[in-house]
Amino acid sequence: MATRKILREGDETLRKISRPVKEIDKHTKQLLDDMAETMYAAEGVGLAAPQVGVLRRCVVIDVGEGLLELINPEIVETSGSKIGAEGCLSIPGRRCTVERPENVKVRALDRRNRQIEINANGLLAVALCHEIDHLDGILYIDKMIEDVTDKETEQKEEKTK
Ligand code: NI
Repeated sequence: MATRKILREGDETLRKISRPVKEIDKHTKQLLDDMAETMYAAEGVGLAAPQVGVLRRCVVIDVGEGLLELINPEIVETSGSKIGAEGCLSIPGRRCTVERPENVKVRALDRRNRQIEINANGLLAVALCHEIDHLDGILYIDKMIEDVTDKETEQKEEKTK
């Protein structure tokens, strides 16, 4: 395993559409391993392959409930909506509010080529939407309602006072 370099906003790779994985081979598994290691090293809750420069539909997520590895993930159902603050490892130091579905159903393959289905709400639902957007070249700031970077910093300062 190895950490990979996380591309920053402005890199055109982040704006490209990723291709589906046709065959889950040793390169796919290596990519997933490296993505997880990179995400944990950066203390993120999710990472999509284009963020490490690979235009393949692979995502890793860990919102504190264990590692999820998703190959060719697709949102098949959504319901409700909720506004919350998000950040992105490709856009460090920034937080903005975004409207997302409250509940999502996602289908994907795991690394053993088995189909998995995830019913998610809360932070996991947000992470799934955010990471799957990356596979289509979409960054969360494209959907920004309000930049709350400074507000959150002020709130933290209030708490530490
Ligand atoms: Ni992101």
